[in-house]
Amino acid sequence: MKHSSIISYLVLSMSSILVSACFKKPTPTFEKDIASIIFNNCTKCHNPNGVAPFSLTNYENIKKRAKTIAYVTKNRMMPPWPADPSYTHFVGEKLLTESQIQLLQDWVSAGCPIGDLSKAPQAPVYKYKSSLGKPDLVLEYKDTLFIKGNNLDQFYLMKFPFELQKDTIVSAIEFVPGNTKVVHHVNGHIIQYDKGKKSNIYAGKNIINSESIEASEVYNTLEVANDDGTYPILTQSAVNYLPGVLPTVYPDGLFGFRLHKQGAFLFKDIHYGPSSRDTFDVSRINVFFAKKMPKRVTRELQMGTLGVTDIEPPLVIPPNEIKRFITKAKINKDISILTINPHMHKLGKSFWAFAITNKGDTIPLIKIKKWDFNWQYFYTFKKMVKIPAGSTIMVEGVFDNTIHNKNNPFHPPQEVAERAGSMRASDEMFQFIITLMDYELGDESISLEP
Ligand code: HEC
Repeated sequence: MKHSSIISYLVLSMSSILVSACFKKPTPTFEKDIASIIFNNCTKCHNPNGVAPFSLTNYENIKKRAKTIAYVTKNRMMPPWPADPSYTHFVGEKLLTESQIQLLQDWVSAGCPIGDLSKAPQAPVYKYKSSLGKPDLVLEYKDTLFIKGNNLDQFYLMKFPFELQKDTIVSAIEFVPGNTKVVHHVNGHIIQYDKGKKSNIYAGKNIINSESIEASEVYNTLEVANDDGTYPILTQSAVNYLPGVLPTVYPDGLFGFRLHKQGAFLFKDIHYGPSSRDTFDVSRINVFFAKKMPKRVTRELQMGTLGVTDIEPPLVIPPNEIKRFITKAKINKDISILTINPHMHKLGKSFWAFAITNKGDTIPLIKIKKWDFNWQYFYTFKKMVKIPAGSTIMVEGVFDNTIHNKNNPFHPPQEVAERAGSMRASDEMFQFIITLMDYELGDESISLEP
């Protein structure tokens, strides 16, 4: 330390002694300050039924991890929220204020004083394996799935047949990973059987390793077809999961679709990331029913990989390069955006999406300055966002294929590309999925807070 900085350090610390002598700030306590910060911002995931690997629900289990809590909050690693809050805001935004972060630091430095525990707020109780409350229907794997510790990605096809009392309107579907260490992503569809078309919906296999089967054999092996050999309706992408994702729920009456009395969830690929140890998974699907059908139809616009817009230039990332790609979509009628989902894999560095109207105005959508593979939320806007006809939606993804990217799956770096839409974490994807409706007057003021 140079002299000048020692002096300024002394001056600073003296002035802070003076200040604290004048306005003595009380030391934060668990009772008065900390319990409410943790219970409001962390416990939704950190509870015995939540997605996080340990609970933060009482003084003991919070104190036990106090040092790490101070560290991860100071560095804004927790609560996880990759989207830049100075660009756009979303429902359920998880961010601590500077003063909350400071309270946590001060509390831990002071040795985690407890205060009067009998007056401290109580942690919310999450009774169900769900972030949405009590599900109306729960479907769990029938058998525990064994995942071999061979350090390879593994892909499965799965079918979960179900039978309801009658056709039912569904407002939300949630995938709850059993083993969060290995479940990477799920894209789930629903097979909907028309009345009397299928006598045994439980026939056929329920789980197949995708790599052990030809695509043309999948439907036969799962015995998906109707009794007369025709195929049932497939409701696409009804439930999705990516690391850290909590399900999307909309205000009552805005979203829903009809679930036929007889059907099956179909995961065309459930992806398990590489594991070095043999392990197991039992994941589940929670279904939430609604009272009535919504008046309006929601649609999806999928841009980039596997979507309707091209990536420019094609997604090939040479080794030792940081490379930028774009994909754009022209919007030809007024739409209202509800939810967006940016998606990239491990070379992702930053992600940015916005719309430009034909008058040249910019409508911000999302900016993620530091891409985080572990937190790929579906971001729902606080209010619907109108995109007028004639606008262009622009998406920019920057990928880092250098050794400086800690998540680079290859050492030394190798060329990484999109391989026919492969979802392997060591191949890349650049995707932007938009959930939208046709615009109606006044949409801009419709709140999407559930
Ligand atoms: C959206 C769900 C979610 C929220 C909200 C959340 N966490 Fe976490 N947290 C997780 C998950 C999942 C992990 C495990 C990550 C992993 O294994 O890589 C984790 C890990 C941690 C760790 C361990 C980090 C390490 O490297 O050992 C700490 C400490 C932590 N969280 C504290 C908090 C605190 C404090 C809050 C609130 C201010 C919070 N979390 C909010 C999901 C969440």
